[in-house]
Amino acid sequence: METLKKQVGIKAAEFVTSGMIVGLGTGSTAAFFVEELGRRVAEEGLDIIGVTTSNETSKQARRLGIPLKSIDEVDEVDLTVDGADEIDAELNGIKGGGAALLMEKIVATYSKDYIWIVDERKLSDHLGTFKVPVEVIPYGSQHVFRQFEKAGYAPTWRFVSTDSKEKLLTDMNHYLIDLHIKEIQSPEKLAAELDLMVGVVEHGLFNQMVKKVIVAGHDGIRIIE
Ligand code: 5RP
Repeated sequence: METLKKQVGIKAAEFVTSGMIVGLGTGSTAAFFVEELGRRVAEEGLDIIGVTTSNETSKQARRLGIPLKSIDEVDEVDLTVDGADEIDAELNGIKGGGAALLMEKIVATYSKDYIWIVDERKLSDHLGTFKVPVEVIPYGSQHVFRQFEKAGYAPTWRFVSTDSKEKLLTDMNHYLIDLHIKEIQSPEKLAAELDLMVGVVEHGLFNQMVKKVIVAGHDGIRIIE
């Protein structure tokens, strides 16, 4: 699996050229992309500016010597490359398994081009196998949780680890509630419903935002667009 992730990470880096402002995703697959960019910066003089999507990616990029700016310091991002947790045939996706969905969605929104890099296990007919993460303001979040229970979305809190009862705080100091809906009939309707809920900051449904998906499988790499 690590080899597949590395292959797509390196493939995506081929779309990056000097002069670009590049959105750097979060997670184990995106880390291979960032690593490859760092190698090119050091060895080939690749001249880019990175915009990161989490504290974890900022740390990695700094270690690799990739110059960084925040999203507010740039007019737009030329290309963002990120991982994903589940993708359907219409290129709707679920993200946020690594708790970085809010910064990831903001950076993706202000990117001219947006690519996901995944291994083929992430492709599915209908979204919902992966739980939909919802980022909520801590104040009043117990009430938001109850709304989800009433709606039948089988919510669970995201904790700092599986054997902990301490709620995870995101990089933006919010909580995460994961919804286990199993088969999402309409990602658009669910996104619209979540967008309207008081206390919800953002959710992990990334509906038709991506332009290209680079998929690694045991038969090689293919691009879906
Ligand atoms: C982080 C994310 C990640 O991109 C997603 O969870 C995929 O991660 P990985 O490549 O480790 O499977 O959305 O919030």
